[in-house]
Amino acid sequence: MKAKINWHYSRSDIAQTIIDLFSSESTHAITVFAPRRMGKTELLLEDLWPLAKKRGYDVRYASFWMDKSNPKAVFLDAISSNSQDQTTVKARIGVGGTFVEATSHGAPKESDVNIKEIKEEFVKLCRGKKKVLLLLDEVQQLAIREQDETFVAALRTLLDTNKGKVCVVFTGSSREGLLKMFKKQKAPLFNFSHQLDLPELGSEFVNHMLGAFKQASGKTIKLAPSIRVFTALNRVPAQFHDLLRAMLINGRQDIEQALKEYKMSSGENQAFLNMWDTLKPLDKQVLINIANDEENLFSEVGRQSIANNLGLPEISKSSLQKSISRLKDAALIESFQRGRYEFSELAFRDFVHHK
Ligand SMILES: Nc1ncnc2c1ncn2[C@@H]1O[C@H](COP(=O)(O)OP(=O)(O)OP(=O)(O)O)[C@@H](O)[C@H]1O
Ligand SMILES: [Mg+2]
Repeated sequence: MKAKINWHYSRSDIAQTIIDLFSSESTHAITVFAPRRMGKTELLLEDLWPLAKKRGYDVRYASFWMDKSNPKAVFLDAISSNSQDQTTVKARIGVGGTFVEATSHGAPKESDVNIKEIKEEFVKLCRGKKKVLLLLDEVQQLAIREQDETFVAALRTLLDTNKGKVCVVFTGSSREGLLKMFKKQKAPLFNFSHQLDLPELGSEFVNHMLGAFKQASGKTIKLAPSIRVFTALNRVPAQFHDLLRAMLINGRQDIEQALKEYKMSSGENQAFLNMWDTLKPLDKQVLINIANDEENLFSEVGRQSIANNLGLPEISKSSLQKSISRLKDAALIESFQRGRYEFSELAFRDFVHHK
């Protein structure tokens, strides 16, 4: 059997920086920021986790998207007595671009979990010999439902009172959502965390991926056009990896030609199509209007344009507001300026633009 190909491009320098900051007690909480699909989760699981383990930390990972309606259970599951296994976590959330499981199996139902239980388990965790590193992913989810506020406040207190023992890395798919968490008045989970902007990947990443491709197929792809292609894909590693996978499957070697085919058919398109099919007609139309740079969605003209396209007499402000909220909750769009909306993922914008 062929040896497993290592597609992961190590970002050990960044992981090292983070662990050094924790070990020297310069900070105990860091939030990793980057646009969608840029490698935040991979940094946590593939770089930070193993390094922290080597440095003697007890590492725990929770993604609040494992069960959106059940954050307490997701967290309890991660901190519970039996230490977590990296391979199981990766398989569960589908690292490597496979799939994301909707529920965290093994996690108790929401009604079963109370804050007291979480506190008890947290205290147990802190009694261990090792320092604890919590990797909390998709934390913007905690800012969405009002009923999660008590949990967030409790979490904040637990982290605050155990600073010497517990370090935490926060991240999530929505930069706007994360910023909202910072600003929240009632439960300002992050106001003690430092922000780290994940640097964009460059030619070394491309080179590494070409090496993995060569190992997998025995074929060489040229570096210079590959760098051009990576730039054309907005430097999104997820798409570059996906393109190479498609080339592998179809036996291609000319990357610029493959990019054309990929844009036409590809897995990327399929994923977007699947997502598109799940959206309500109003949400689709709102996305189309945003992709076409139509301004002032909420104005009379803006709402009438959406209504006309849907063949409806009118769209109320509240229906539009609900649609915008659904699209934000799904991390499809973000808003950094009142009334202006942007796509979280540029490739999805291109897809919608061609609808
Ligand atoms: N260091 C890396 N080496 C190789 N491939 C990578 C790396 N980082 C990311 N990728 C590719 O990009 C994909 C997406 O990465 P990841 O899920 O970590 O992004 P993310 O920023 O967490 O996305 P989201 O915003 O959707 O949560 C991976 O499945 C992988 O194909
Ligand atoms: Mg992620």
